[in-house]
Amino acid sequence: MIVLRPATLDDVPLLDLWDLEPDVISATSDDPDAPKAFGDIYWPGELTLVRHDYQYFIAELDGRPIAGLQVIDPYTEPTKYWGEVQPHLRAIDIWIGSAADRGQGFGRQAMRLAIEACFRDPDVRAIIIDPLVSNTRAHTFYQRLGFRPEGIRELGEDDDVCLVHRLTREDWRKLFPGE
Ligand SMILES: CC(C)(COP(=O)(O)OP(=O)(O)OC[C@H]1O[C@@H](n2cnc3c(N)ncnc32)[C@H](O)[C@@H]1OP(=O)(O)O)[C@@H](O)C(=O)NCCC(=O)NCCS
Repeated sequence: MIVLRPATLDDVPLLDLWDLEPDVISATSDDPDAPKAFGDIYWPGELTLVRHDYQYFIAELDGRPIAGLQVIDPYTEPTKYWGEVQPHLRAIDIWIGSAADRGQGFGRQAMRLAIEACFRDPDVRAIIIDPLVSNTRAHTFYQRLGFRPEGIRELGEDDDVCLVHRLTREDWRKLFPGE
């Protein structure tokens, strides 16, 4: 059973550990020599940036932390990572820390919880994500959840080449009408 809870400073050692996982590194950078995931992110500092439109969560499987998630309002959040972007959206990122926890449906469950939480706000029209163009397995994963590819964009300080996908509220309700 997967639950999401806000990330806290107590999670920093685990987030640091997950940053060293090869699949997490390659999901966040196309640089084959990148030593860790998320560039030079410093988790104790990053977690102090948390506010209503810039949030981090930990997915727990039966009480065991297995994944990190970021959920932001890309239009209002202060880092302006997404540049030109519409209002009334959310953007989500997810990474499962340990290879042993991937490929078992946990990511799908965690994303369903995060998506449902986003759409509980009636103001939210769609959710966007930014997997690297190279992260083709993640594309399949997101597309199975109803996300549709909408174009390549260079995002972030390193101009990472991302295949932006979008999940509209309508598509989500069609795919998962009970939620
Ligand atoms: C992408 C990710 C969150 C998917 O979660 P998951 O629990 O592994 O996914 P599920 O078990 O629900 O679905 C499995 C599907 O996920 C996709 N997937 C992507 N990366 C994968 C990985 N490293 N290992 C296993 N499955 C992966 C595949 O499409 C897989 O389907 P397949 O078995 O037919 O190839 C997870 O694999 C992960 O954290 N990967 C590394 C970080 C990452 O790529 N994050 C996304 C950044 S945009």
